[in-house]
Order: sequence, then C-alpha cells, then structure tokens
Amino acid sequence: MRAILPPSPPVPSSPADAAPPALTWGDWPEPEAGPGDVVLRVVATAVNRADLLQVRGHYPPPPGASPILGLEAAGYVERVGAAVSGFTPGQPAMALLAGGGYAERVVVDARHLLPVPPGLELVAAAAIPEVFVTAWLNLFRLGRLAPGERVLIHGGSGGVGTAAIQLACARGAVVYATAGGAERCRRCVALGATAAFDHRDAAVDFAAAMQDEGGVDVVLDVMGAKLLERNLRALAPGGRLVVIGLQGGRKAEIDLGRVLAARLTVVGSTLRGRDADDKAALLAGFAREVLPLFDAGRVRPIIDRILPLPEVEVAHGLLARGEVFGKVVLAVPPAGTGPQNAE
Ligand SMILES: NC(=O)c1ccc[n+]([C@@H]2O[C@H](COP(=O)([O-])OP(=O)(O)OC[C@H]3O[C@@H](n4cnc5c(N)ncnc54)[C@H](OP(=O)(O)O)[C@@H]3O)[C@@H](O)[C@H]2O)c1
Repeated sequence: MRAILPPSPPVPSSPADAAPPALTWGDWPEPEAGPGDVVLRVVATAVNRADLLQVRGHYPPPPGASPILGLEAAGYVERVGAAVSGFTPGQPAMALLAGGGYAERVVVDARHLLPVPPGLELVAAAAIPEVFVTAWLNLFRLGRLAPGERVLIHGGSGGVGTAAIQLACARGAVVYATAGGAERCRRCVALGATAAFDHRDAAVDFAAAMQDEGGVDVVLDVMGAKLLERNLRALAPGGRLVVIGLQGGRKAEIDLGRVLAARLTVVGSTLRGRDADDKAALLAGFAREVLPLFDAGRVRPIIDRILPLPEVEVAHGLLARGEVFGKVVLAVPPAGTGPQNAE
C-alpha cells in the first residue's frame, strides 16, 4: 500500500524552529490484522498537532503502534477479523488511532471504530475522532463540566478547541475561549462562545475578566506552564483545571495556597497512550453521549480545508504557522494515481 513514510532512521528530537524532515508518499508493507481487528480502507485522515511533534522526534508512537503518522481516519471497512461483530465489509466508519492513518489502509481494534453519523461525508468524519473524543473526555469526564457551569477553552480556534466549544455549548455550559487575533476570536463566538480573548493582545488579561464574572468552573488548557498562574486565578472556588497540551512549556511554579483556599483540582491527561480496553470503554461512552449530537446537527467538525495526503508538508506548515481554524483534512488519492503506486 501507499503511505506517508515515517522518516528512516527515526529523527532525533529537534527544536520546533528546525526544518522538519521530508515526508514522502511511497510504498509501505500492508499492516497485519488480528482476530479483533478491522482493516479500514482510508478515504481521509486529518492533521493533529501531535503529528508535527512526532515528525520532529517528539511524542513517539506508543509501543506496538504503527510508526506511520495519523491519529484518526475515516473510510470503508475492507476486512473484519474472526472475532469482530458489529462491522461488515463495505460499511463506512471512522477510527481513533494510535498511529497509521496517513496511509491507504490502517488496521484498527474494532472497538476503536465508530459508525459515521448519517449525512456526514467521510472527509468530514475523518476530522472527528481525535479532537472530539479528547474534548469530550477532558471537559466532561475529567473536568466534570455540568450544564449551567462556566468553562474557559484555550485554543478555541484549534482542532480540539472548535470541538470543545460546540460540545460545551451543547451541554448547556457558558463558554469562554481564547484564540490568536480578533478574527479568530470572532469565529469562536460564532461557534457559540459567549466571549473570546485574544491571546496575542498583551493588554488582555483573561484571568481578570473571568474573575469579574465570578470565575470559571473548568479551564481546558492546551498551553501548560505559560498559563498556569493565570488559569488558577481564572477558576471559581471548586474549579477544575484540565491540562491537555504543553505548547507553553511543562514546568512552572504553582501557588498551592490558592489551590487549597479555593479547593481547586489540577488534572492532566493524554488519549493516545491509553491501553486498548480503556480506549474501548471511552469510545463506547462517546458513542452513547456524543454521536447523537452529530446526528441532530448540534455539533460538526470544523474543516478549514481538504488537501491531498501527499501534500502533507503543506498541511503541516499551515498548522505550524497558526493558519488553520479547526482542522486540515488529508484525502487519500484514488489507487492508481500519483508518482508511486504499489497496486
Ligand atoms: N492530551 C491529549 O490527549 C491531547 C489530544 C489532542 C490534542 N492535544 C493537545 O492539545 C493541543 C491542541 O491540539 P490541536 O490539535 O487542537 O492543535 P491546533 O489545532 O494546532 O490548535 C492549537 C491551538 O493553540 C492555540 N494557542 C497557541 N498559542 C496560544 C496561547 N498563547 N494561548 C492560548 N492558545 C494558544 C492556537 O490558537 P491560535 O492559532 O488562534 O493562535 C490554536 O487554537 C496541542 O497541544 C495538542 O498536542 C492533547
């Protein structure tokens, strides 16, 4: 099959401002499937910030995962293992992956596969699993966000952020967001946020603004160290800070006095490295609680643009420069096209 080939030998960790290694579309061995697996013929995958880190030798795939990039995909079930029930060949499906999505075919544990919401094209479905499961898990399971509560979503313009704003609104929460620039803030408000704060404007203090509102119950943070002090200040008594990204560094001082006095919770999580059973249980909960929202048209993937998968470097460049609102989808070229073709 054809895939975006992982750099060989693997790239040693390199700083974010160094040029990334070239990503080429070429031939790769077919993945092997076990009895509990499904082979998915990938129609589209989508870019995640984690992919940019992996290319530079950070955030390596967990043990046993494909070295090929790609944390989510949508396509058609091609083959099912002997122990699989609930999926049949030819059926459209979307997959949460620990890797392997940037390819013509991917093997996925059948329990990590979801039906495609009715009326949604596969290129749209490809942009759902990683960011919507992340947003749902961290807002509601870890952040315990309840209807009527206030939530601050950092990076409201990103893949996770655009999913989180919609999910929190659908739950009946009052949503605030941060994004870079007035236009991106405006688009967060159009998605349902009550207000959005421009993180590029040094005069804007989101923590003070949130305190003026009585504080927020949950902060969903993609920045880490850089925002820790302000995030703790933004929280109301009993508030929960959920850290899912470290774009602003991993080490910071914490005022435990504030944590104690305001009875705050600070929690972090990752999705990719969880074991297969844990992910299966999460996806069952996600299917129950979130898929009906897609069916009802209350949430949708926010797609900035769709590019052919071999143009992955263009896509990564757009994300690295902050030129994407929501998601970039990568469409797999039809078999028999392109400079290299294994079939
Ligand atoms: N823990 C997990 O399980 C998990 C899963 C998925 C993703 N993540 C992490 O979550 C983060 C977001 O992922 P993504 O795929 O949504 O990435 P993305 O689409 O590239 O979005 C990144 C977001 O960060 C925002 N941002 C940059 N600087 C900021 C600042 N100073 N203050 C506030 N926001 C800032 C960007 O805003 P502007 O572009 O508008 O400036 C953008 O909205 C990444 O760090 C990713 O690694 C974690």
